[in-house]
This record gives sequence, structure tokens and C-alpha cells, in this order.
Amino acid sequence: MEFSIAPLKSLSTLRTDCLVVFVQQSAEGCGLGDAQAVDSIVAQARQDGDFSGALGSAHLRSRPQGLAARRLLLVGLGAAPTDARAWGKAAAAACAALKGRVAARVHVACADAQLALVDATVRAFGDFAYVYTATRKPDPEPACRVQSVQVLVPSRQAAAAKTRLERAGAVQAGVDLCRNLANLPGNHCTPTHLGKVAQDLARRHGLKVDVLGRADIERERMGALLAVAQGSQQAPRFIVLRYEGGPKRQAPHVLVGKGVTFDSGGISLKPGAEMDEMKFDMSGAASVLGAFEAVARLRPAINLVGLIPATENLPSGTAVKPGDVVTSRSGQTIEILNTDAEGRLILCDALNYAERFKPASVVDVATLTGACVIALGHVNSGLFSPDDALAEALLEAGRQAHDPCWRMPLGDEYAEGLRSRFADVANIAGRAAGSVTAACFLQRFAQEYRWAHLDIAGTAWKSGADKGATGRPVPLLVHYLLAQQPSGAPARS
Ligand code: BES
Ligand code: MN
Ligand code: ZN
Repeated sequence: MEFSIAPLKSLSTLRTDCLVVFVQQSAEGCGLGDAQAVDSIVAQARQDGDFSGALGSAHLRSRPQGLAARRLLLVGLGAAPTDARAWGKAAAAACAALKGRVAARVHVACADAQLALVDATVRAFGDFAYVYTATRKPDPEPACRVQSVQVLVPSRQAAAAKTRLERAGAVQAGVDLCRNLANLPGNHCTPTHLGKVAQDLARRHGLKVDVLGRADIERERMGALLAVAQGSQQAPRFIVLRYEGGPKRQAPHVLVGKGVTFDSGGISLKPGAEMDEMKFDMSGAASVLGAFEAVARLRPAINLVGLIPATENLPSGTAVKPGDVVTSRSGQTIEILNTDAEGRLILCDALNYAERFKPASVVDVATLTGACVIALGHVNSGLFSPDDALAEALLEAGRQAHDPCWRMPLGDEYAEGLRSRFADVANIAGRAAGSVTAACFLQRFAQEYRWAHLDIAGTAWKSGADKGATGRPVPLLVHYLLAQQPSGAPARS
């Protein structure tokens, strides 16, 4: 999909396969200046009851009168002030209306003060055009026939729109990378493969990368990661990626991504139904790699470290057993009461490793608990942090990026359930507040820096007919990281 910006000139003479115009529910016309033809079609469609302007409503006209465009697509913005969420919904409605139609060139008209539409357009059409092809032939009749989208903006906003387009395009590249990787089946996307993807990313963008193998991981004494890995024939990896866009002495931000390339539960085996979806259990890792793809394209003035512990979680004669006690990299011993609570085990060693960077912040991203799906569904990622300012920065990034998260509690009362008679800590507590006690477990290993945890179990992928990775929370992460630039500092090129 090609995206571009052009100044908004005469709408009536514009030649295109489809002109998309967004309309406020209560507004008389579309607010685009020279647009009498569009306005009268809006009025007509309203009168006929074909178009209400409600958020997400759409009305498609072929050969619209008074316009050179082959089609006119009206999309409703609703009555409330349009925020990132509403733009997202409206842009997605535009794509839905074009599903299956032959419209190679699309133009989106953007009125004054509607620049958020640039982000929403790239996101919606980017997602619309996404096709998974790694292990299958493409559909002969694709849903998306759109090849290029040009956003038309008032001339004096063209520069600002181009900046936004560049950001949105980089985010979309990160989202695509994340989706491709997370969608890849477990027999293709092994820990070794994740390591290769990180190396390829580093080579393409000139980043630093280290991929530790089993022997290196043993040398690092990452006993919790090794315990999870010991049941699998696939060798584990610990990936360290570095982007240096700020001065050497500037403390880096660290992203940690859970990279369980398949989670069977181990000896605490999961039930069979939908177990295939546990190939998505490396979505945290995929989102960290996706965020690096975007950051490496945008080159903000920050330093960034990515840490990815990667392993399978399988049952076997060598697998770790319920009741086993292992020593984590931090020195804390852990009683593994349930081998299916493996994400926190591999993350705790990565969080401990992160201390060496004296980081400005550490955000871990993980498909950590089914309980988070019960708590927040598929709308919000779960956000856990003892640091109010960091939590607010991530909440705001989520709002801006139309990739929301919701703050959840932490606290000693919850952490108490993790007490063990045979180790310093147990890897599970009771059934109650499962996403919170999982976060409390991680918190024990993240005491030395500002830390937040994103539980993306409900948001990283969709089940059912359109099963697949969503690319979340790449947009949130990228917005957060861009906002961490010291104000006014130029990026090192
Ligand atoms: N990867 C799962 C979490 C998960 C479950 C994500 C369902 C998405 C959908 C994680 O490793 C896990 O198995 N967690 C257990 C923890 C429990 C044993 C305390 C869970 O959520 O059931
Ligand atoms: Mn598990
Ligand atoms: Zn898991």
C-alpha cells in the first residue's frame, strides 16, 4: 500500500477511483470548501435516509453527480468531538465499505484540524491491506484491492501532515512486522528464528544485536528461563537489541518482550481446545521487534534496548515439574507450582538483566495471563506500574495511538498469595486476580528502576473467523518512546 499527502484543491475535478469524505453527524456539509457537489449529495443521502453521519456509518455512491471521481464514499463521524478512537472507527468503516471493490486509487479528503485522520487512514488501510503469505498462497480474490491512498490536506497543513504520515508509516511497518512474526506457526517461528529476525532487523537498520544461545544463558545464570526451556528440543535464545539515537551517556529505555514461541503449558498441560493459539505467546517479543522497526525508521533522539527471552514451553522427560525449585538470575529461588505460568519465569531473568543498563524506564510486554482477558477483554491491554508518571505516559500514548491500555492495581495484599514454603517465592497465587498476582511476581524483579508491565493476552491477537495477530501494542510503544525524547533534541542520523 502506498500512502502520500497532497494539497487539497478542487474536489469536483479530482480523478480517482474513490473519493472518501468524512461528515459530522450534525453538520450541513463536509466542511471542505469548494465542495458543493459533495454537500448536495450528503443532503440528498440524508433526506433519503441512506446516510445518517453516525460514527462508523458509510454510504457509497457510484458516478456521483458533479464530480469527476468514479465513486464518492461518505463516512460518518458521529456527534461527539472526534478523538483518535473515533477516527479509527471511521477510517475502518471506509475500508469495510471498499471491501472487494476494485478501487486501486483512493483519495481521502481531510479538512482543517483533522490531521489525526492521517494516522487513522494509514492504520486502517494498512490493516485492510495486510495479508499473511508466509505459509500459504494469497487469496485469488483479496478483500483489499486498494493500491494507493492519497490524503488531501489544506496546503498550509501539508508539512505537518507529511510528518504525521512518516510516523504513521513507520508505526505501520512495525505493526506489519509484529503481525507477520506473531502469525507465523510455532514450527517456523522458533527461538532461533526470532534471533535471526532480530539480526536481520539490526543489519537493515544498523543496530547492535547480541543473540545469546543456551551456553551463554547458562553463563548468565538465568535459571528461570532455562527451567522453562529444558523441556524442549528447541534451543532457547536471549536477544539483546540496541538502538542508539541519543548521546552515549543518556540512560536508555528498555523494552522486554515475552518470547514463548509455543506454550503448551508444559507438564501442567493446557486443554486441547484452541491450543494452536499459543503460537501467539511470543507476541510480546514480536511487538518489541515491531517497535524497533518503527524507531529505527524514525530515528528519535533516545537510546533503546530490547530484551527478548525466547523459548518453547513443552512437556517431556526433561521438562521442569510442578514443585521444582529453581534459582533465578536475581538469586531469588522460585517454586514452580504450575509450569503453565512460564511467562513470568522467563521475564524475571530478563528484568534482572535489565539492571545493567541503568535504564530510564523498563516496560515489559507479555501475553501473560488468561485472567487479564477476563478482566479487560480484547479492548484494553492491562497496565501495571507502581510509578504514576510512567503509567500516565503509557496511558496517554495508548490514547493517542488508538491502542489503549487500562491501569490495574499492584500491592502487598495481592503479592502475599505468592508465598512459598520451599522457595523465596512461588510462581502462582490463587485463582483470584490472576493478572495482578502475575504482575506482583514480576515486580519483585524490577525494583531497581522505573518499571511498567503490559499484559497483552487479550489484545495481541483475535480468535475466531479472523484469527490473527493485531500488531498491538506496537502503536502504543512507539508513541511512548517518541514522547521520551528530550524536548528539542535532534535525532542523531
Ligand atoms: N500464555 C498464557 C496466558 C494466556 C492464556 C494468554 C490465554 C492468552 C490466552 C500464560 O503462559 C499462561 O498459561 N498463564 C496461566 C497462568 C496460570 C497458570 C496461573 C493462565 O493464564 O492460565
Ligand atoms: Mn503458560
Ligand atoms: Zn504463556
